Amino acid sequence: MTIHIGADPGDIAETVLMPGDPYRARWAAETFLDGARLVNEVRGMLGFTGTWKGHRVTIQGSGMGMPSLSIYANELIKDYGCQTLIRIGSCGGMQDEVKVRDVILAMTASTISTPSSGIFRELNFAPSADWGLLNSAADAALRKGVPVHVGGIYSSDVFYDERPDLNEQMTRHGILGVEMEAAELYILAARYRRRALAVLTVSDHLITHEALPSDQREKSFGDMVEIALEAAFAPG
Ligand code: HPA
Repeated sequence: MTIHIGADPGDIAETVLMPGDPYRARWAAETFLDGARLVNEVRGMLGFTGTWKGHRVTIQGSGMGMPSLSIYANELIKDYGCQTLIRIGSCGGMQDEVKVRDVILAMTASTISTPSSGIFRELNFAPSADWGLLNSAADAALRKGVPVHVGGIYSSDVFYDERPDLNEQMTRHGILGVEMEAAELYILAARYRRRALAVLTVSDHLITHEALPSDQREKSFGDMVEIALEAAFAPG
């Protein structure tokens, strides 16, 4: 048990999928895991552990934004010994060729600030994904025929951003999408030598203003969960 996670030490698997939304954690666990069982409900931030093709997996909500994700990822890494942490979430598209429903695999995550900024001070650390996970996730997406983009994303601290110039610069520099958690996950994985990846579904678009209708969300999010699970347990 930690401050924010009520699970016993053995209740959490070494591999964790982290959606922002705790209800999506429940949906993913009920849909994809065998024998899924609730292991955390502190503050309603639901976590479930079960098996996928015989492998133990925990799906734990992270909440929205890097300060919230940082709490759960720190405790999962330092107190529960988690080795592989994969964010599954949504993002806003930032390039014309990135369409709503497409999947983005975040090779890097640019930011102007994270909970770790105080450590780095003037250094611009480059948060990046684990290569093996990224490579396996790209293979899984191609095998499934899911439209996938691999490249840089932007982890923002604000959803209602009053600085459109930042988004413009991100688009100008080829950034594929914007979300609010991946950079800090990558930084924590680097610090503690764990494997991390963000697999993201494009749910809305900053340029075209298209948005995924709610009745089509489940199928798109399902592709993302399967890609994350296949990457986590890919041989080699
Ligand atoms: N901005 C930030 N985070 C997001 C967005 C967005 O447009 N869409 C989904 N997550």
